[in-house]
This record gives sequence, C-alpha cells and structure tokens, in this order.
Amino acid sequence: MQRELLIINASMSPMTGDGIVRDAAILLHGGTIAWAGPASDCPEIRASIERLDIAGRLVTPALIDCHTHLVHGGERSREFEMRMQGESYENIARAGGGIASTVAATRRESEADLLASALRRADNLIAEGVAVIEIKSGYGLDTDTEMRMLRVARRIAEERPVRVKTSFLGAHSVPHDVGADAYLDEVCLPALNAAYAAGLVDAVDGFCEGIAFSPSQIGKLFSRASILGLPVKLHAEQLSHLGGAKLAAAHGALSADHLEYADESDAANMAAAGTVAVLLPGAYYMLRQKHRPPVEAFRQHKTAMAVSTDWNPGSSPMGSILLAMNMACVLFGLTPQEALQGVTCHAADALGLKDCGRILPGLRADLAIWDAENPAELPYRFGYNPLYARIFDGGTGV
Ligand code: NIG
Ligand code: FE
Repeated sequence: MQRELLIINASMSPMTGDGIVRDAAILLHGGTIAWAGPASDCPEIRASIERLDIAGRLVTPALIDCHTHLVHGGERSREFEMRMQGESYENIARAGGGIASTVAATRRESEADLLASALRRADNLIAEGVAVIEIKSGYGLDTDTEMRMLRVARRIAEERPVRVKTSFLGAHSVPHDVGADAYLDEVCLPALNAAYAAGLVDAVDGFCEGIAFSPSQIGKLFSRASILGLPVKLHAEQLSHLGGAKLAAAHGALSADHLEYADESDAANMAAAGTVAVLLPGAYYMLRQKHRPPVEAFRQHKTAMAVSTDWNPGSSPMGSILLAMNMACVLFGLTPQEALQGVTCHAADALGLKDCGRILPGLRADLAIWDAENPAELPYRFGYNPLYARIFDGGTGV
C-alpha cells in the first residue's frame, strides 16, 4: 500500500502564482501530491494518516538545477590563478587551456573515477534541497568519452535519490587538431547518433560563440536533433552577441543560457517561442564580466527566467544553488521571488518537465522544507544552508 503523508502547519510557497499560503496542508499519496492548500479547506482526512507537523516552516517545491557540467575530470585552479593575474578566459582557451584542458583530464578518467567525483558534487546540491539536476556531456568531444560522461550522469540517479536529465553537448568546443565543420560532421553528429541510440540523451545543447561554434554550425546540429525528435537548448550570447538566442528561439529551444550579451529583440523572440532564459551568475562572477543579461527586457516581454549553478571546472566551479540565487539577485537584479521561480517552476520549464517545480495535485511529491518563514530568506543569506528536510518521491530525509 502507498504511503500517505499529511504535512501540516506549513508556510507554503507553491510557485503557482498564489504567493505564500500560511497554515497550509499538503497531502502526499506515495510519490504524488494529492492535495495542497489552506488547512481550513482541507478535505476530511482519516485520523490514522501519518502527519508531519513542520511548525510553520517554509515549504517550496524541491529545487531544480537546470544547467550543470557536473561530470568532469580534473580541475582548473591554475587558470583561475592566470585570470587573477589579468589573463582572459578566451585567451586561455585559444592557448589550449579552458575546455580543452578539461577534455584531456576527462578522457583520462575511468567511469568509476568520474562517478565518484560527480557524486560528491551531486550530494552538495541534494543537501540544498535539489531533486533534479541537468547534466551535460561536452568534455569528451569523441564518441567514447561523450557516452561515458552521459552514462555516469545517468548512474547518479541510480546511486542517489535525485533525478537527472542529460544533455548532449558534443558541440562544446572544437578540438585543436580539426576544423569546426569537420569535427561537427565526422565526430559530433555521429557521437550524437550513438548516444541517442543508447538512450542516453534527453536534450541537445551547443556553445554558440567565437571560441566555439557559429550559428550556422549550431543550426546543423539542431536540425539533427529535430530529426531525432530531441529538444534543444543553447549556450548563447555569453561573451559576444552572435545570434544564438534568436537561433534557439527559431528552433523552439527549451532554453537559451548565459545571455549576458542578449538584447531586447532576443528577449521578445524567446518569449514568443517559450524559450526560457537560463541565467548563470556564477560564470558572470567568476569571469568578472561587466555586461549583464537584459533582465528588464525579459520582464517586459515575459520571458521566463531560470537560475542555475552552471557547475563546471572553468567558468563556474560553484557547488551551491542557493548561492546562485543570491548572485542572481545581487548581481543581475532579480527579485528574491524571481530567483525562487528560477530554481523551481522556470527551471522545470527549461528542462521541459511538467511533473515538478510547482506544488500542485498530480505533480511529483518532491518538496524542500526550510528553516525559514519567508521565501526571500533563501537568497538573502549566502554561504548558509537553511534546508530542514527534503522530500523526494514522497520519502522524507535529505
Ligand atoms: O557554461 N560556456 C561554455 N561552457 C561552460 C564553461 C566550460 C568551461 O570553461 O569548462 C559554461 O560556462
Ligand atoms: Fe554551461
């Protein structure tokens, strides 16, 4: 028989546009939310049902980290030292460092080693109330390693109480010994086919940038994704404005990510296409960028904004989604409510997930309970984790 649990005495932030509901009750049937609302409206409930009194604590949907490179080998602190002495991210990449150095390290590591380091990172996020992690490949740039990364990503969901969505990011960087077009045709697209055939791909991602792939090359990748029936997303307008955001919108992408150099017309196109703007303040901070994403234009056009760690060893070695929320507020000017939408309902949208990110009957019983009364407390403190308990698939525990 399914476990039934009634959470009572909750301050609920359901992320459905209803604001905060004090003295709320949430009824869980197994892994599904059966009912949620003010306790006074709660239907008659058997006295024998297990109750969890959370003494007025805040309940939100469990968090969703919708853009990570969690699986990777090695680390790049030497590049951090170089950048702190004035070297730029692009110059380090052009000189063979950057993504290429993580590719070399990732190729060297066994599946077991990659899994061990990725699990540590996943544990950090889970401890902050995360229930879904998107994980990209992109540090293999050959079929074997790209597939190894995706297999490791999927293994995380077997080893830990968390869901994983995988994105194939073979178009992350051009290996130094081949041209971009040749790499795309001879390595990246065949690797995508192989990873897809092995059932390892939930979405296709690319890096549209001067140091990576042009819009027309990304267009080719997206056409292949569409033939395979896979949704797309894109690292776009991070270091320059190349047209990636409009390209993503034209392909009905789930999201365009970074967007520091995006403009108002990008915001308009993305809103019309339902493409979520995924903001990654960790990379902006770490690379000491000056150009901020056009948050006001996103608001005006009602482009949904998500927020994520972008956890990767180069531009954003950031293991905290709560810190990403704080940075989205302080650095990009999001309101605390927008930051919370960014890691719940809008993050779900950025992954095409309809079964999570909001507290509604019929959705998954993935919740975060906080030692807090108000949602603004989550991004307000930084370097502090107020998680009281996480409920995953209806089960309690962190
Ligand atoms: O999302 N922008 C491209 N890719 C990653 C960085 C990868 C790296 O530096 O290793 C990002 O920031
Ligand atoms: Fe990224």
